[in-house]
Amino acid sequence: MTKIKSSFFCQSCGTQHSKWMGQCSNCGAWNTIIEEVISKNESRKTWRNNNSGQVFENIFNLNEVVFNEEKRVKTNFSEFNRVLGGGIMPGAVMLLGGEPGIGKSTLLLQMALSLKDYSFLYISGEESIQQIKQRADRINLQNNNFYLSTDTNTQKIFQSIEKIKPNFLIIDSIQTLTTSYIDSFAGSISQIKESTSELIKFAKESETPVFLIGHITKDGTIAGPKLLEHMVDVVLQFEGDKENIFRIIRANKNRFGNTSELGIFQMDSSGIKEVTNPSDLLITKKDNDFSGSTIGVTMEGIRPLLIETQSLVSSAVYGTPQRSTTGFDTKRLNMLLAVLEKKAGFKLAIKDVFLNITGGLKITDPAIDLAIVFAILSSDKDLFIPSDYCFSGEIGLSGEIRPVNRIEQRITEAEKLGYNKIFISKYNNISNLKTEIEIVKVSKINEAWKKILEVN
Ligand code: TYD
Ligand code: MG
Repeated sequence: MTKIKSSFFCQSCGTQHSKWMGQCSNCGAWNTIIEEVISKNESRKTWRNNNSGQVFENIFNLNEVVFNEEKRVKTNFSEFNRVLGGGIMPGAVMLLGGEPGIGKSTLLLQMALSLKDYSFLYISGEESIQQIKQRADRINLQNNNFYLSTDTNTQKIFQSIEKIKPNFLIIDSIQTLTTSYIDSFAGSISQIKESTSELIKFAKESETPVFLIGHITKDGTIAGPKLLEHMVDVVLQFEGDKENIFRIIRANKNRFGNTSELGIFQMDSSGIKEVTNPSDLLITKKDNDFSGSTIGVTMEGIRPLLIETQSLVSSAVYGTPQRSTTGFDTKRLNMLLAVLEKKAGFKLAIKDVFLNITGGLKITDPAIDLAIVFAILSSDKDLFIPSDYCFSGEIGLSGEIRPVNRIEQRITEAEKLGYNKIFISKYNNISNLKTEIEIVKVSKINEAWKKILEVN
């Protein structure tokens, strides 16, 4: 007998409520609570016991469990492998989120088609088979073991899996899946939750890696419950400007690796290409000397990245000065401006300040502070900073220049890219480094600014 049960879910945060309310008591969103019918079938089956009635339950002794790093499958994108922690783990469930049109389907299709020794099942709930064929032609890759289906019912998917026995499963997208065990519409919280947990069970029991593509809502979170992010092993975020050719992939969560890694790609007319020497591409000023532009030496994960920061400082036309940033936290910019004003004596309170990190990157490494501060001063005083100078240091609240991690690696990278002078904190100890680049150690903003002015 089928017992019909219903519950109320907030479509924004996924919280379950016992009754309908106008406002969600958890996240405060209005008109997001919807009744979803959950039909519980008593003779419920999992993917495995669908036919055989077999359920896998086992107990292991931890000492006997073998973990084999080599089992990771390396994709043909080394940038992607790094973000995944070295490759795709067997049984991993990976959620790839990103705005519409950013290139999620292209990335996974290209990754799959280039892994010619593996078989794939691609479930497309959004595009027709022809559209995917068209995209594959555009990418110009062929994998003889790539199978497609537009059937988004999880039970049907498991039947296709039994038939094809793919090495990998790709779901495009998780919001289009439905499971027969739940009666609400595709994309609703309970459908997403249930479909995902069925897929996770499948992935773990069969050791098949599963990629889930997820849409992003206006506020930048993956549509559906936050819960989805808790359920999966890896949460990848694909970001970048649609107008900009750069695409960045980062892991917001990774049960098999580091989350500070970042992969950089480029989108062109024949698909996605990886960018292995991003510093070269991110720096536009090479021979020209402009005021307001400096180079910061940052770290993204374990990789040093030289980034150009550009600033424009002008007198505020309206009463309240504008502060606007791209790729950098506005609050931190305000903090740096306050430090410049109060601790270093530069009058910026009545100025408009615009700040831009080139290449569409978002930088969180505080070592970029020093480059930002001098980009601002350079624009304000209309003095250019020589293009062979670079900066790596954090600014503290009292105006001191603080040391940063992995300084040796940063210096080596700056030297490799042809910079002649690097400004760092006086308190950064450098161990064991042979380098030709001139290292300028500074402890205060004013002191560093004087050293820059000496050449101007
Ligand atoms: P798509 O993978 O469909 O994005 P998503 O799945 O994240 O919605 O990519 C869509 C955009 O990428 C589209 O505007 C066309 C562009 N594109 C290229 O520039 N080059 C290519 O080779 C391909 C296949 C797409
Ligand atoms: Mg898509």
